[in-house]
Amino acid sequence: MGAAAAPRRRLRRPGLRPRHAAARPAADARHPPRRPAGQARGALRRRLRPGPAARRLRPPAAPALLRPAAVDGAPADRDRPRRRAGAHRALPPLHRRGLLAGRVAEVREHPAHPPGVDGDLRLHRLVPVAGPHRPRAAHHQGACVTALDYNQLAAEYARHRRPYPGLVEFLAEFAGVTGDSAVLEMGCGTANHLASLQRLTGACALGVDPFPEMLKAAGTHEAELELRTGRAEEIAALDLPEASFDLIFSVDMIHYVREPGRYFEGAFRALKPGGVLCTATDSEEIIRTRVPVAQYFPSTVEVELGRHHAIDDLLAELRFAGFTDGQQRVFESTYELTDATKYREKAFSSLHLIPDEEFETGVAALTAELAKGPLKANNRTCAVLARRPE
Ligand SMILES: C[S@@+](CC[C@H](N)C(=O)[O-])C[C@H]1O[C@@H](n2cnc3c(N)ncnc32)[C@H](O)[C@@H]1O
Repeated sequence: MGAAAAPRRRLRRPGLRPRHAAARPAADARHPPRRPAGQARGALRRRLRPGPAARRLRPPAAPALLRPAAVDGAPADRDRPRRRAGAHRALPPLHRRGLLAGRVAEVREHPAHPPGVDGDLRLHRLVPVAGPHRPRAAHHQGACVTALDYNQLAAEYARHRRPYPGLVEFLAEFAGVTGDSAVLEMGCGTANHLASLQRLTGACALGVDPFPEMLKAAGTHEAELELRTGRAEEIAALDLPEASFDLIFSVDMIHYVREPGRYFEGAFRALKPGGVLCTATDSEEIIRTRVPVAQYFPSTVEVELGRHHAIDDLLAELRFAGFTDGQQRVFESTYELTDATKYREKAFSSLHLIPDEEFETGVAALTAELAKGPLKANNRTCAVLARRPE
């Protein structure tokens, strides 16, 4: 298929090891779902809305209602000293990686509920995770972050994107989310997951995303959502009330964050003791066995491994930030793929990062295969879970 190594050179600086090392099997202890603290919902709402700038959006929401917080112009605080749980100390200067130009269209269609898919749904497959120590060097091995302008992609994204089957229901149960709970989705985008969770539980729901157009689309859901602009790595700038959230989660967001630890530390402070942090992302296994992308466009594997944080590194960062009970669960469904349109139209961002020749060859091969009959495709995410200790 004419696979080439060019994207790899674009994605990595010499000297950085691949993000996804071979899986290191071990197991962390797991805790059963905790009951939510019975804090009054009104009080939570007041705490979550620290000033007049933060407004709740109800559909149809006017863009002017969005909090006019700085997005790209916000001062980066990445050079400030990092804080370890229970101790303060400055770390060595952080290495920098070049950003890819904004040539990537991150528009993934999640064929979550096409007819016939429900019977194939497999949920909550438990995968043991790595042991308790954090490799010190992981500070310096962040994934190569792609820079995308999601303002340009919001309409298409809203049209194609669906929640991962079973993820929202699982999170509600695992974190004990009820109508008295407060939840935050970081990088909520068009808020498919957050709106679904809010409707399911009645929880007080805050969505944060850097791109106002994504939040505008999020505001069209039939759900009570509070929406704010902001970035995960600048979570401190959101001035979230301490120990207030029962659940903080992100879906397909963390690979845009150079230093997940900075986000995890802020999330730790904002979570109630016992609260859950969930980071749903692609694991190495998911990337390597994605059907049909990995088979028909093999260079996407290197591209995705290059920009995604390894699950073990995320777990190490979580421990470093003070979280316990780290574990991962894979949510998986399959569906019958009948035509190649979404691949031909590069609805998967990694397809923008492979050589043209490989892309054309892959589309032709996939189209030819589909002419013989449907293919069984998969749709998976790995939820990395941890708790703030009681
Ligand atoms: C692939 S989309 C996922 C959106 C949503 N979580 C979902 O599952 O539909 C990635 C989202 O992450 C957001 N994002 C990108 N960089 C971010 C950052 N540094 N902090 C927080 N969110 C970010 C994008 O704006 C986009 O909405």
